[in-house]
Amino acid sequence: MSRAPLRPAIREAADILAAAGVHSPQADAEFLAAHVLGVDRGRLALMPMLTPDQLEEFRKLVARRAERVPLQHLTGTAAMGEIDLAVGPGVFVPRPETELLFAWALARLEQIGHAHPPVVVDLCTGSGALALAIAHARPDAQVHAVELDPEALAWARRNALQLADEGDTPIDLHAGDVTDPAILDHLDGRVDVVVSNPPYIPEDAQLDPEVMDHDPHRALFGGPDGLSVIRPMVDTIARLLRENGAAAVEHDDTNGAGVAALFTTHGGFTDVIEHPDLAGKPRFVVARRITD
Ligand SMILES: C[S@@+](CC[C@H](N)C(=O)[O-])C[C@H]1O[C@@H](n2cnc3c(N)ncnc32)[C@H](O)[C@@H]1O
Repeated sequence: MSRAPLRPAIREAADILAAAGVHSPQADAEFLAAHVLGVDRGRLALMPMLTPDQLEEFRKLVARRAERVPLQHLTGTAAMGEIDLAVGPGVFVPRPETELLFAWALARLEQIGHAHPPVVVDLCTGSGALALAIAHARPDAQVHAVELDPEALAWARRNALQLADEGDTPIDLHAGDVTDPAILDHLDGRVDVVVSNPPYIPEDAQLDPEVMDHDPHRALFGGPDGLSVIRPMVDTIARLLRENGAAAVEHDDTNGAGVAALFTTHGGFTDVIEHPDLAGKPRFVVARRITD
């Protein structure tokens, strides 16, 4: 069989995905084509043809995507900062919304400078996304990450081993509950930066099938108001941070003021600021530790 031109195959795929209700059909068709061809999406123009095997694989992936399997489960990777993470069933797919929280953490670490190795904690690490992206960008940092779900922890371990193999500073992964009053107590008062993208969706939210049927529910839902993990986690953050240490916590776009109020009423924080995400929605709150 002869080779097939790529552009019409992508057009056909985008139409199938649009009809299935996929939100970004053209982009997803291009990502899947790039995956099959083993190139970055930006280099597709250099690959005008598909072999018969590549066309068959592409069409199979498009059919799975039309069943609303997440794109990242099909390609096997998701990005955070400069790194790619292996993802799949059993772990939350890192989202672009979290990139600004990551950028805030790097800027905060830059302010701290390089005089001492900064200590960073990622609470609810999932695939290890924030912890590993920070360790990649700041090799001098001592990064700790906490995760409750054994399946997610296995993905985090796999990503941590891969990145350490590639030369990144290893991180410390801890199995545990971020609301446990003793979690990481050996770091009490020693942490410069805490980051967290915890489960925060209110229980009754309507979600796309990619999310509802494929992200672990423990990663998504934060009780009736979306705050069931964040509320007790504020005490953990207060305990861990050193004076002037700072934290950033991602939240549901309905909960910016609610999360800011949790930090303000705690009494151990100042400079409590709400931040938007790339789409302009309220997405994370930062706060700086003061002495009680
Ligand atoms: C929204 S996901 C975020 C994962 C990762 N931080 C990211 O941005 O991709 C939340 C993660 O928190 C974990 N988790 C939920 N409750 C937890 C708890 N009480 N203690 C520790 N981890 C928890 C879930 O298993 C899930 O992996």
